[in-house]
Amino acid sequence: MKHFVRVGILTTILTVLIGSGLDNLGLMPVLASVQGAAIDALFRKHIWVISFLFSLIIGFMLYSFVVFRRKPGEEGDGDHFEGHTSLEIAWTIVPLGIVMYFSFLGASALAETRRADPNAYNITIVGSQWSWRFDYTDYDFSSTELRLPIDRQSLLTLTSTDVIHSFWVPEFRLKQDALPGEGMERELRITPTLLGDYKLRCAELCGLEHAYMVSDVIVMEVDDFEEWVEEQIGGPSGDAAARGEEWTKQFGCVACHSTDGAERIGPTWFGLYESEETLVDGSTITVDDDYLFESILDPQATIVEGYDTVIMPPTGESMTEEQILDIVEYIESLTE
Ligand code: CUA
Repeated sequence: MKHFVRVGILTTILTVLIGSGLDNLGLMPVLASVQGAAIDALFRKHIWVISFLFSLIIGFMLYSFVVFRRKPGEEGDGDHFEGHTSLEIAWTIVPLGIVMYFSFLGASALAETRRADPNAYNITIVGSQWSWRFDYTDYDFSSTELRLPIDRQSLLTLTSTDVIHSFWVPEFRLKQDALPGEGMERELRITPTLLGDYKLRCAELCGLEHAYMVSDVIVMEVDDFEEWVEEQIGGPSGDAAARGEEWTKQFGCVACHSTDGAERIGPTWFGLYESEETLVDGSTITVDDDYLFESILDPQATIVEGYDTVIMPPTGESMTEEQILDIVEYIESLTE
């Protein structure tokens, strides 16, 4: 009996040391959403259970190493035990109870993150290799950065134009995949609680530039947010080329095409207009409005030599004709 008391004390001390150590380690970035609070509470409980179980095993082990080691003169085998029924029942039922309790906690936390506010702002988030676009469907405009009002719930509907991406802002705690295909939209509710600038990172390996699939997330005062919305309604201003430049950012074209001659996956737009290109079949063409329009709408129609292994996504299909014409104007403006 005295052995159990000693191990009990040892386990308690180890649990407190390891548990408070892990709890104060600052493993998580700052918490910035209502939904994240449920996750953090669950995480903290896990840390304490993990600390206890680890201490229990290590405590018994260390104690046995020291107290039950072979003493001088002991030559025979140790005592032989033939099982212990009540102990076996206990170590089956206790963990079962803990696991069931935690499945209940997990389900409650999940329900907490899904609690719906009927007045939530609607934002559709579109992932493409390798950029994000944010469609403010309540106001009919799109943005390349995610701006959210503080203390108001936003209902994010996630989708993808090509492969699986994943929406992850560590400060909000939640993570949700963006899946391609009709009817595969996924929802995520975020109520930011802290003003500031955050980063949205793609958390699903999605190809060559996955590591750079990052967007700005800005949590604003409600008044500032509404002012920003007013400015955005009606789309980008300026001439066709200026609007085209904005579209190329929103649709993520610039992830693959540089505008300064730099080498990327797709051909650079710098000096592309009116240049002479050799096609995969050996013939040559001069890049003009018609060729650019066709290439945006149907990228596989005419392939320039050296780009036959590159598959451009059919991004143009989700653009309006005006948007494509603006982009053609923009590309033209990049040739002096
Ligand atoms: Cu998108 Cu990784």
